[in-house]
Amino acid sequence: MIEEIRKIRESAQAELQGIDSPESLEAFRLLYLGKKGRLPDLFKKFGSIPPEQRKEVGAELNRVKEWIESSVAEMRGKLGSSDGVRESFDPTLPGIPPHSGSIHILQQTIEEITTLYARMGFETVEGPEIETEFHNFTALNIPLDHPSRDSFDTFYTDKGQLLRSQTSTVQIRIMQARKPPLRIIAPGRVYRPDTVDASHSFMFHQIEGLMVDEKVTFSDLKGVLHLFLRELFGSEIKIRFRPHFFPFTEPSVEVDIQWGKGWMEILGAGSVDPNVFDAVGYDKSRVRGFAFGLGVERIAMIRHGITDIRHFYENDLRFLRQFA
Ligand code: DAH
Repeated sequence: MIEEIRKIRESAQAELQGIDSPESLEAFRLLYLGKKGRLPDLFKKFGSIPPEQRKEVGAELNRVKEWIESSVAEMRGKLGSSDGVRESFDPTLPGIPPHSGSIHILQQTIEEITTLYARMGFETVEGPEIETEFHNFTALNIPLDHPSRDSFDTFYTDKGQLLRSQTSTVQIRIMQARKPPLRIIAPGRVYRPDTVDASHSFMFHQIEGLMVDEKVTFSDLKGVLHLFLRELFGSEIKIRFRPHFFPFTEPSVEVDIQWGKGWMEILGAGSVDPNVFDAVGYDKSRVRGFAFGLGVERIAMIRHGITDIRHFYENDLRFLRQFA
């Protein structure tokens, strides 16, 4: 039997030399490996040899089979298969996609909101995160003794500046730099020395809106916010305006949406206080305006059912990939 195997190996070796086309390779393959081919034939005979020879013969048989198989595979790579396509490279297989990142859910939320406002003519603008007391408080009509000015509520730098605690600062910067009419939307980071827990962070994101013109009314504010909240939460959403106080708007409201059985506060807004126009050098007898401010994390948490604000900042890919 060993002798027979050797012969087959020799004839296969000789025949391999003459193979020059996919067709002759296929004929060779069938001759040796096909169902009724020479090797299966030998494997059949293997069943009837004496047990003491089996180990040696079996090993030899397997060696030849592996050698023929790998020779066929190698040849096929060189020649291409019978339909003329090289099997070592199959261009119909899907490629290996490169690893790609995605936009963070907070940035996605910001972009969605600024895009909605862009459709209403609001230009997206930004302002600095390190601010003056004037822009963060004084110009916004926040009195010197207001608790939010306290160092428990605001981070101060040793150069007499601060990390802005609200994006309302951007209203002031834009009004100082430009003349009315204005329609701006200002996203960005804000900072407050809060202890971090499931709903508080020392840094979070806000979006501020401001419109100033000669005849802007509170009903314009209502219309804009209605449109915005319906786009964001669906046209069925119920909206409630609740009287509130902010130093920089008069009158002021907090706006709630109906959520489950109750109401959920979603943003603050109002008509720009004339003192703010004074602070930026606008003629308060000629201009009117409205402003609003909202928290980006809060909106993303409500919309996506996120229960812990810390998820946004921990860079856990299992969280982030859900929004990829
Ligand atoms: N700056 C306010 C805050 O941080 C949010 C806000 C409320 C902004 C009312 C406004 C506004 O422009 O009119 O809580």
